[in-house]
Amino acid sequence: MSHYYIGLMSGTSADGVDAVCVRFAEDMPSITLAAHRYEPYPESLRQRLLALMVPGANEIDRMGALEGELAEIFAAASTAARRAAGLARTDVAAIGSHGQTVRHRPSGPHAFTLQIGDPARIAERTGILTVSDFRRRDIAAGGQGAPLVPAFHQWLFGHATKTRAIVNIGGIANITVIPGTDAKSPVRGFDTGPGNALLDAWARQHTGEAQDTNGVLAARGCMDPELLALLKDDPYFAAPPPKSTGREHFTLQWLAARLQHLGRDLEVACVQATLVCLTAETISEALTPLHPEEVFLCGGGTANPVLVAAITERLAVPVHTTAHLGLDPQLVEPAAFAWLARETLSGRPGNLPSVTGARRPVILGALYPA
Ligand SMILES: Nc1ncnc2c1ncn2[C@@H]1O[C@H](COP(=O)(O)OP(=O)(O)O)[C@@H](O)[C@H]1O
Ligand SMILES: [Mg+2]
Repeated sequence: MSHYYIGLMSGTSADGVDAVCVRFAEDMPSITLAAHRYEPYPESLRQRLLALMVPGANEIDRMGALEGELAEIFAAASTAARRAAGLARTDVAAIGSHGQTVRHRPSGPHAFTLQIGDPARIAERTGILTVSDFRRRDIAAGGQGAPLVPAFHQWLFGHATKTRAIVNIGGIANITVIPGTDAKSPVRGFDTGPGNALLDAWARQHTGEAQDTNGVLAARGCMDPELLALLKDDPYFAAPPPKSTGREHFTLQWLAARLQHLGRDLEVACVQATLVCLTAETISEALTPLHPEEVFLCGGGTANPVLVAAITERLAVPVHTTAHLGLDPQLVEPAAFAWLARETLSGRPGNLPSVTGARRPVILGALYPA
């Protein structure tokens, strides 16, 4: 069978889709990047996706329209990555498509999670077997359905003796702590809370830009300790793992309620600076009790130097990006879904019960033949 896989990741930031075409070594944890394509979403599409992430009217029709629109972009990005790698369709074993999460409610009697971006259309347009819907089976097995990237982090980044942590800073941030593989203790991992989601939302509201590029706005402001305490008071942060969250929890309304509670005006830049501290402190406070000896950052948040500095100064151990381990920080998540597709086709489980809380390891995903 071909050893090439395509991984598609569209995270909670809804900024665009990353498509990677990769090859995995059969006998050791090693990945070779053949091509990468990033397809940013038009602003109107991003707006409609973000709108669908919070409860509203006529959601099924709005979702149905977005299913197709996203799938066409996913398929085009896959084909572009395949061509850039100089490959024929038959060279690619499968596409692993995470999809776009529009709702994530992993707890309670009606737990569910929903990722859209019609996989039938991806298979139809690309002519390549598509694996999608990775999270549902873990939820069916009693897990959170998230995070799913830790198994890949362990496979690729695990070290024989050192405890390593991988921190993915997407819209939501998640951590994976991998004990030295010789120690045989379980991998830990969970969503720590907002990564860039609130930074993007606040910047958008006050500057009209989709993000606070390079943290320029945050750097102009002063962190407000009282607001930070109000933000950190949310019960999610103190809750024990397994836990996962989504954009529907950490919204601008969530922030507005706490600003109102503060009862005084703060400069826009100071709110932004405080949001940077919220992301940095909730990550560092999640990591510290798990005693990582080295920390590696990935995800779009690594492009925000103010955020990276805030995280680094709160940790007493070396902090790098995953580039230090040979994988571009922007490519870790899409590569993880290419790898998860391989695990599915190989009949191997992709979830880690020590992370998601599932009753057992399960084979993830649904298959849409070529
Ligand atoms: N130059 C930059 N300055 C600040 N933030 C950035 C920059 N580049 C990317 N980002 C942040 O990264 C996010 C995208 O990260 P990504 O890992 O794709 O997240 P997700 O997985 O949620 O889609 C953007 O929404 C933005 O917040
Ligand atoms: Mg993204």
